[in-house]
Amino acid sequence: MKKITIIANWKMSLSLHESIQLAEDVERGLPPLPASLRVFLCPSFTALPSVQPLLRQCLLGAQDVFWENRGAYTGEIAPSMLTDLGCHAVILGHSERRAYCGETSLMVHRKVQTALANNLTPIVCVGETAEERDRGQKEHVVIEQLTSALSGIDEKKEQDIFVVYEPVWAIGNGHVVAPEDAEQMHQLILHTLREMYSPAYLDAHVQVLYGGSVDRRSVGPLISMPHVGGCLVGTASWHAHNFLSIIDAALRI
Ligand code: 13P
Repeated sequence: MKKITIIANWKMSLSLHESIQLAEDVERGLPPLPASLRVFLCPSFTALPSVQPLLRQCLLGAQDVFWENRGAYTGEIAPSMLTDLGCHAVILGHSERRAYCGETSLMVHRKVQTALANNLTPIVCVGETAEERDRGQKEHVVIEQLTSALSGIDEKKEQDIFVVYEPVWAIGNGHVVAPEDAEQMHQLILHTLREMYSPAYLDAHVQVLYGGSVDRRSVGPLISMPHVGGCLVGTASWHAHNFLSIIDAALRI
């Protein structure tokens, strides 16, 4: 059976009360999940301690982490602070952080290294802007972001990694990528990773997901593509009904 991962990115969109309600509603609405389907919820930092005890089948993730373990870094969150709260994974290099917080490929690389050193599974986002796509640079941009984020990983440690292809122009606007185009980019991502890591490591530990305007209608065709291993969902994960419909569609693959 195909392994599928669905990750909810709640971004900065929910109050504490709304986060608790959503976590409760999602958990209550989920059917028993097979081992082949993993679901992560990524609330804001402030909701993590309240959401964690509500989770039964879903795993907890965070939306960012700092690259140092401790010290004078006002406002930042250390990896151990996330693992203390029961986080299993962390989104890194999201295009919103690259665009609004000046996050560079080097910063993403350092965050990946620190996350792995603390046994947090990195969810590494890569993707081109509309301008880069129109200039014919999408492959170049994705390969650069991918290779700089994921260079130097010690595959002997057998740690899981998610890569998410999230074209910036497809986020938050209903412009979902054609499944065949997502498949093509996923093949390129896996081809690039095969030049860096062994097939055995990639098969067992690396999954490539798609993100950008995924909803209950688009999720099925996307994850039916052979190299699309799941989805990172923004807007459609902020209401239990919508998110549960996505899980339902994933269960039918
Ligand atoms: P939307 O699903 O709202 O397009 O957001 C995608 C995203 O940025 C997930 O990280």
